[in-house]
Amino acid sequence: MHFAAHAYVGESVDNPRKYFRNNVLAALSLLNATLDAGIRQFVFSSTCAVYGVPGTVPISESTPREPVNPYGASKLFFENALEAYSRAYGLRSARLRYFNAAGADESGEIGELHDPETHLIPLALAATTEHAAELQVYGSDYPTPDGTCVRDYVHVNDLADAHVRALQYLDRCSDKPQGEALAINLGTGRGYSVLEIMQEAERVTGRAVRRKIGERRPGDPPTLVADAAKAQQLLGWTAKRSLADIMSTAWNWMQANSRATISS
Ligand SMILES: NC(=O)c1ccc[n+]([C@@H]2O[C@H](COP(=O)([O-])OP(=O)(O)OC[C@H]3O[C@@H](n4cnc5c(N)ncnc54)[C@H](O)[C@@H]3O)[C@@H](O)[C@H]2O)c1
Repeated sequence: MHFAAHAYVGESVDNPRKYFRNNVLAALSLLNATLDAGIRQFVFSSTCAVYGVPGTVPISESTPREPVNPYGASKLFFENALEAYSRAYGLRSARLRYFNAAGADESGEIGELHDPETHLIPLALAATTEHAAELQVYGSDYPTPDGTCVRDYVHVNDLADAHVRALQYLDRCSDKPQGEALAINLGTGRGYSVLEIMQEAERVTGRAVRRKIGERRPGDPPTLVADAAKAQQLLGWTAKRSLADIMSTAWNWMQANSRATISS
């Protein structure tokens, strides 16, 4: 399972060289090494960023892949390599296109900690405290119900479950000489706006999210929501955890690790 990558969209625009070097060149070295070692199953962390600004929502796997930034382009390049390797070398791969990964392990011991943090949920939770910056809301005039961007948030432990199922699926394909190059969306099929995320953060913390409504950011599609039917059909997978679960586990993790998460 290949998770490692550089994964900041904005940084990829400013420094594409860094992104293609790591997410393509280094990733191909890894892929070649696994192939040389006789490994025939490969699970890859892909992303809904491969779709760019989709013409229709919800997004199914057959939506054209037209990334609008170097991060998405680097992931698409590797997706294409996996397809070619399946045909040529009989590799069985799963390209799992995560939507917005969020939440933390229920134990409170594993959660997300990025530097800089760019993900909405940790930023919204931190903005309920005195120590962190106020939340910047990028645009309130999008063609969405409340004017803010809508995204599909999927709990990280649901994602983990999908990876196990993907491996089991690839095992079941082991008699296929022509290999397999599965592409699967991993999302809930339900979108939430930035304002809805802030409301949920306020409900869980009991405090106001300090916020500043600003201009749109270039390249942000109004709505990204998965059509998750294929994951259900082929892997028997649906996301079990709700937005409330995502928010409460993220908050629990943040409080348990407050020195690292809130004050940074
Ligand atoms: N977080 C999301 O919402 C999301 C959505 C879609 C896809 N993804 C993908 O999921 C994967 C994990 O994302 P994340 O949010 O946990 O990102 P992250 O930045 O928290 O984790 C990526 C990790 O990979 C490591 N890494 C990068 N290049 C490496 C290399 N060459 N060798 C060794 N380690 C290296 C980094 O140090 C980091 O710890 C990435 O491939 C990302 O593109 C994430």
